[in-house]
Amino acid sequence: MIFVALASSLGVATACASARAASPAVGVPPSSATAAEGFYSAAQVDRGRDAFRTNCVECHSINADFTGRAFEWNWRRRTVWDLFRRIKETMPEDFPGLLTDQGYADIIAYILDANGYAAGAGDLMPTDVSMSVIPLGPGARKTRGMDGTRS
Ligand code: HEC
Repeated sequence: MIFVALASSLGVATACASARAASPAVGVPPSSATAAEGFYSAAQVDRGRDAFRTNCVECHSINADFTGRAFEWNWRRRTVWDLFRRIKETMPEDFPGLLTDQGYADIIAYILDANGYAAGAGDLMPTDVSMSVIPLGPGARKTRGMDGTRS
């Protein structure tokens, strides 16, 4: 089980590098409106879904635990950076810190997607700078302005 999870998180890191290398080839213009509006990429959501299935579904349901009113109120006035640190430092409950930072960021992208936040062309990076500008909670703004900042 542990080895499967480790292999999966290595796979996540590899898929991440190749997705980034491949993205100019598929012709996604980095300056497109979608790229500026989104917080994470669709490819990252796919990786996050896989990582969630491997490491989290044993104890959690994405919809029951990480969307909806109870989740929103639990995380009100906090940001994605707080959620990232909470997950990285305490989850999976039986093996905290198991995933790479990018693996945890991929799972966050999957959670944001399930909560209706906008997707774009770039990955959500596992840093304070990228994550602390994304609010959580009821009524949180779920798109970015054209210049990439929250408006
Ligand atoms: C072995 C069971 C188990 C696994 C696996 C597990 N969790 Fe948890 N998780 C829990 C329990 C139990 C709690 C509630 C107790 C606590 O807060 O520690 C919790 C709480 C949480 C919370 C806080 C919820 C909130 O709204 O405050 C988050 C977020 C979370 N888990 C995310 C994850 C993610 C993401 C994964 C996969 C990387 C994961 N967990 C894997 C058992 C687990």
